[in-house]
Amino acid sequence: MKKGHFSKAGFILASAGSAVGLGNIWKFPYIAGDNGGGAFVLVYLLTVAFVGIPLLAAEIALGNMTQREPVSAFEHVAPSGKKQWRFAGFSFLGSFTLLTFYSVVIGWLYYYIYLTLFHLPTSIAEAEAAFMGLVTGDAITQIFFHALAMLTVALVVAGGIQKGIERINTFMMPALILIILVMFFYALSFDTFGKAVSFMFDPDFSKLTAYGVLVAVGHAFFTLSIGMAAIMTYASFSGKQTKVLSSSLWITGIDTAIALLAGLMMFTFMYNFGMDPQKGAGLVFISMPAVFYQMGAVGNVFAVLFFVALTFAGLTSAISILEPTVAHLEERRKISRTKAVWGSAAIIYLIGFFALLSQVKGFGFLSVGEKSLFDAIDLLSSSIMLPLGGLTLALFLGWVVDRHNLERFLEGHGFTKVIFNVWFFAIRFVAPVAITTIMLYSLFFGSL
Ligand code: PHE
Repeated sequence: MKKGHFSKAGFILASAGSAVGLGNIWKFPYIAGDNGGGAFVLVYLLTVAFVGIPLLAAEIALGNMTQREPVSAFEHVAPSGKKQWRFAGFSFLGSFTLLTFYSVVIGWLYYYIYLTLFHLPTSIAEAEAAFMGLVTGDAITQIFFHALAMLTVALVVAGGIQKGIERINTFMMPALILIILVMFFYALSFDTFGKAVSFMFDPDFSKLTAYGVLVAVGHAFFTLSIGMAAIMTYASFSGKQTKVLSSSLWITGIDTAIALLAGLMMFTFMYNFGMDPQKGAGLVFISMPAVFYQMGAVGNVFAVLFFVALTFAGLTSAISILEPTVAHLEERRKISRTKAVWGSAAIIYLIGFFALLSQVKGFGFLSVGEKSLFDAIDLLSSSIMLPLGGLTLALFLGWVVDRHNLERFLEGHGFTKVIFNVWFFAIRFVAPVAITTIMLYSLFFGSL
């Protein structure tokens, strides 16, 4: 089948765009803060290295090897008699589910660019009132910006792999990296930088709970876009020049660097202005705007740049989250790309619409058990579908596919014998055990 292809750098950039997302700048700093810093970061980094990279390499391998959308990719390499493994390809539904609320958060970011352009909250109390007012009180604003967010994502994906996805990543990723670097270097000039470094890198294991470990492991998967067939789908559009090992390392390197730089920068600023990093999910939307206000004129510029960077990070991920569904509909169900994009975007928008409403006062009935629809969808996609996708992928390559075929393929992709053995061990044993543990834990003890 003839498919449009990413260039070699385009594939790495787009996949790094997928990996670097709201997870890196919004979630990572606050979960690191909530879970005591250093020891948490260490567990996260170890998981990224020993489980994350092998799984990422597995996704890229499967996509690149088959050049097919997820369901057909599994079907293609499954040995005869085991073709039912194609169902593992339905992990792309995790992406579909994730996008319903991911796009709502991008809508908030759009609004925050607009907001910070004109006015910064003068105190934490004001910042908190503004954010809570938006999320729990202002359905109309959210609906409007959510629509803009979904529209942007759909337009880019409708543009296709090269003219849509590669092109936007070639612009947004360097811009995002530049903004984070500028802010990071500014943070270097603050005395509190050292305090931020020791908070993030001095491991104090007395502060780390079992729950914290599981959050770190779960986040390592999420941040690398594993288990939802996102990078696997991108890889199906990568060519012969793309090498599995070097691509995996580049993507992980960029993703980890951005998370650490953003975390250090934000903690430095927060310490400097006397704020507590243990602020939870409101860190980006509540603490940071108040911090920027205190910085004076520079803060005004930084605030806008910061939300632009976050928006770019979110958009380049959201695009990779929509593409698997579109690729499936287009290649496997033979629906035109245009129809696939707008049809799925419309359904995702609608579900997101109810998710957003579920947090607004008066719409509490939009709930699943104790949780708002918004939180329930988050739990379903990040704590159930994502680990399931990662688990089936690992079991499939580790136990079902012919080992020698895999080895032969990966030999051409930078895997020496030793690297292959280490990788295979991680895929066969380490990943399934790690994932099963976090799944059981989150099912029995609630959301991660
Ligand atoms: N990696 C993205 C982030 O950190 C989220 C994501 C998950 C994207 C799964 C694609 C697939 O925000």
